[in-house]
Amino acid sequence: MGDRLTEKFSVWVVGAGYVGLVTGACLAHVGHRVTLVDTNAGRVAELKAGRVHIYEPGLGELLAGCTDRLRFSTEIVPAAREADVVFIAVDTPQREGGSADLSNVGAVARAIGRTLAGEPGAPLVVVNKSTVPVRGGDYVSMLVHEGAEEAGGGEADYLVVSNPEFLREGSAVYDSLFPDRIVVGGSRAQRSTRCGRSTGPSSGRAFRPNWNPGKKRRCRS
Ligand SMILES: NC(=O)c1ccc[n+]([C@@H]2O[C@H](COP(=O)([O-])OP(=O)(O)OC[C@H]3O[C@@H](n4cnc5c(N)ncnc54)[C@H](O)[C@@H]3O)[C@@H](O)[C@H]2O)c1
Repeated sequence: MGDRLTEKFSVWVVGAGYVGLVTGACLAHVGHRVTLVDTNAGRVAELKAGRVHIYEPGLGELLAGCTDRLRFSTEIVPAAREADVVFIAVDTPQREGGSADLSNVGAVARAIGRTLAGEPGAPLVVVNKSTVPVRGGDYVSMLVHEGAEEAGGGEADYLVVSNPEFLREGSAVYDSLFPDRIVVGGSRAQRSTRCGRSTGPSSGRAFRPNWNPGKKRRCRS
C-alpha cells in the first residue's frame, strides 16, 4: 500500500485513544510521518515502550512495523510548525441529557490556534474526527481562530475539515485500511481533497450539498 503513496505528509494526531491510535498507526503504515499526541502521560509512556492499551487485531504489528516514522508526545505545541495535517481524535463524552461534551475538542482547537499564531508557512489542514454535532466544523474553526487571536497571531492560515469515523471496534485496523467510505467535508475543495489524499484511497466522488449553497461547502465521499 505504501508503494502507491505519492505524497507523504507530516501528520499529527491529537488523542491516542481508540480512534487516534488506529488512525495514526494506519497513516504511518501507508508512509506518512506521524506524531501521536495525548495529554495522558502514562498512556504516552506505555506507547513509547511498545505497549498498547487496547486490543485490536493487527494494531500491535502495525505499530511495531513503523517505529521509524511514528513518535509519541504529550506536547501539541510544535504541531503548527511541523505538521501538514493535524487530526483531532479526542474523546467527546456524553453529558447528562445526551449532548456531547466538546471541551476536549475545544481545548485542542484553541491550542492549535495558539501554535499557529505568527507561524508563516504552508496552510495547516485541521481534520476533526471527534464526534461533534452539526456545524461542529464551524465551531472548531472558530476556536482555532480564537486561540490564534489570544496568542496575538492575527490571521492564521488553516482550514478545518470534518472526517467522521466509521471504524468498528474489533475490525478497526481493517476498516481504516480498507474503508468502504471516506467522508470529508470542508469549505474549500482543494484542501478537503488534500485531507482525502492523506487518509487513503478515495472513490473520487464529490458533491455539493444543497442545504446551504451560499457557504460553498463541499464534501467528498
Ligand atoms: N471508538 C470508536 O469506535 C469511535 C467510532 C466513531 C467515532 N468515535 C469518536 O471519536 C472520538 C474519540 O473516541 P475514542 O474512542 O478514540 O476515545 P478514547 O477515550 O479512546 O481516546 C481519547 C483520547 O484523547 C485524549 N485526550 C483528551 N483530551 C486531550 C487533549 N486536550 N489533548 C490531547 N489528548 C487528549 C485522552 O487522553 C484519550 O487518550 C470521540 O468523539 C468518539 O465519539 C469513536
